[in-house]
Amino acid sequence: MQAHDFKEIIIRRSTLEDSESFQRCLDTVARERKWLTLLEAPNLEEVRTFIPKLSVQFVAITQGTVVGWCDISIPRKRDGFCHCGVLGMGLLPEFRRRGLGERLLRATIDAAHANGLSRIELEVYASNHAAIRLYERLGFAHEGRRRQARILDGQVEDNLCMALVLAGQDPPYGPASFSCRLAQNAASS
Ligand SMILES: CC(C)(COP(=O)(O)OP(=O)(O)OC[C@H]1O[C@@H](n2cnc3c(N)ncnc32)[C@H](O)[C@@H]1OP(=O)(O)O)[C@@H](O)C(=O)NCCC(=O)NCCS
Repeated sequence: MQAHDFKEIIIRRSTLEDSESFQRCLDTVARERKWLTLLEAPNLEEVRTFIPKLSVQFVAITQGTVVGWCDISIPRKRDGFCHCGVLGMGLLPEFRRRGLGERLLRATIDAAHANGLSRIELEVYASNHAAIRLYERLGFAHEGRRRQARILDGQVEDNLCMALVLAGQDPPYGPASFSCRLAQNAASS
């Protein structure tokens, strides 16, 4: 890829057509073996199945290529838990530290809130200072620490639990407990 003009990078909702490019981006970040629990991307078929199940996914695109993503899934589609989403994100290494992470995160949180989510959770390895700072800046609070959650390549890592609670802001589409249906397929809308 050529030199990047960061102003040219588009942040938009993903579509199924992004699957292959998203998979490559996810695979690159996973293979760094530092930031994600995944150590490689799932195969393309799994990625294609997974994307429509997300509540929301935004991607950063330049020159037709996915260079970053941020998404929120709803792992427990049960009464009482449909307002809770789990966030994941990543950027290709050469696209970090230029504000793209914040743009992706803001777009994704706004869309998730519009889908009726009012609690967004995540886990982040304690050594991932850039991510932790970004989450704190956008209002995520620390909720706990899973000690020695990962031992990989000789490195012991604690996992920090963080969450953003959009309290006092009414979901625009009615009570969050009804939002699973709305949240589903939002990535394809
Ligand atoms: C975590 C991640 C998504 C953050 O994205 P990002 O774009 O680098 O994050 P930010 O937009 O917050 O920028 C990070 C830093 O760049 C700085 N920055 C922002 N805009 C900038 C600009 N235009 N020029 C220079 N620096 C800039 C920020 O101030 C911040 O600095 P700080 O960490 O010293 O406070 C990215 O680092 C990444 O993909 N990491 C690997 C995958 C990962 O960790 N995923 C999360 C797992 S929980």
